Amino acid sequence: MTCRHFLSLLDFSSEDLQQLIEKAMELKTGARQGQLPSVMRGKTLAMVFEKASTRTRVSFEIGANQLGGSALFLSPGDSQMSRGESLADTARVLSSMADLVVMRTLAHERLTEVAQHSQVPVINAMSDTSHPCQLLADILTFVEHRGSITNATVAWVGDGNNVCQSWINAARQFGFNLRVATPPGYEPDSDIVAASKDYATLSDQPEDAVLGADLVVTDTWTSIGMESERADREAIFSNYRVTSELMHQASKDALFMHCLPAYRGKEVDATVIDGPQSVVWDEAENRLHAQKALMFMLLTD
Ligand code: CP
Ligand code: NVA
Repeated sequence: MTCRHFLSLLDFSSEDLQQLIEKAMELKTGARQGQLPSVMRGKTLAMVFEKASTRTRVSFEIGANQLGGSALFLSPGDSQMSRGESLADTARVLSSMADLVVMRTLAHERLTEVAQHSQVPVINAMSDTSHPCQLLADILTFVEHRGSITNATVAWVGDGNNVCQSWINAARQFGFNLRVATPPGYEPDSDIVAASKDYATLSDQPEDAVLGADLVVTDTWTSIGMESERADREAIFSNYRVTSELMHQASKDALFMHCLPAYRGKEVDATVIDGPQSVVWDEAENRLHAQKALMFMLLTD
């Protein structure tokens, strides 16, 4: 049986993604008025997390509950995966009972393998290559604060990592201009950039990237799994910190985003992340509303 998965922003059309953002706004407004559609009544979300999480796990679990369903959490250490049961067999079993599967993994191929053997939709809760659920919340946050993101200018400063790569996919899907500034050698994947070449440009100059931008985004310099590189990265990335001075180069009403967790004094100064241009707490809360819309769409399609 083939079913619709959400492993990348490119798995949905631009129209579907626009619709998802509208649905997220509707669900958010509804939830504040006590309206919680029970589209997941009697349904279960199985969540496999091979690496740490706060926001993603909590938002999926609470989101499933708010939609009338339930979520169960599996870490490899407490399932038979720790004793060598294959991903394919695990996917077959999970999807014979659960209605949705969510997976966070260090190797994106593991997600595609689970999707290949799953009878139900599989959602990417972050891999080494991408973090599409984060982008749903980020776009929702921009739209709430500034209206449509189409034709806006967004600057990414820092590592060309999984979140950056999803921003590149988002630029193409939502039609905005993305300027990515990374140290040489830390650029995003060249195939991902090439596929969005009309929307994303690369440089190693943070000041050029942020000039006149409507939004400035960064992320940790040391993603999960790269801890052994931390000291080297802190030296290499030291000129890629989002400071108040850097924010002054952006548009005067530019927003600041960070997917969190953040490391103040490293990739961002406290004056920025805790300052008036920062929308990071809305961004974090919007994980819940955006993923409820995603589950709603996957289950009602
Ligand atoms: N932004 C994000 O995905 O956070 P967690 O790692 O806490 O889930
Ligand atoms: N790039 C970070 C994002 C964490 C939400 C990581 O992969 O650890």
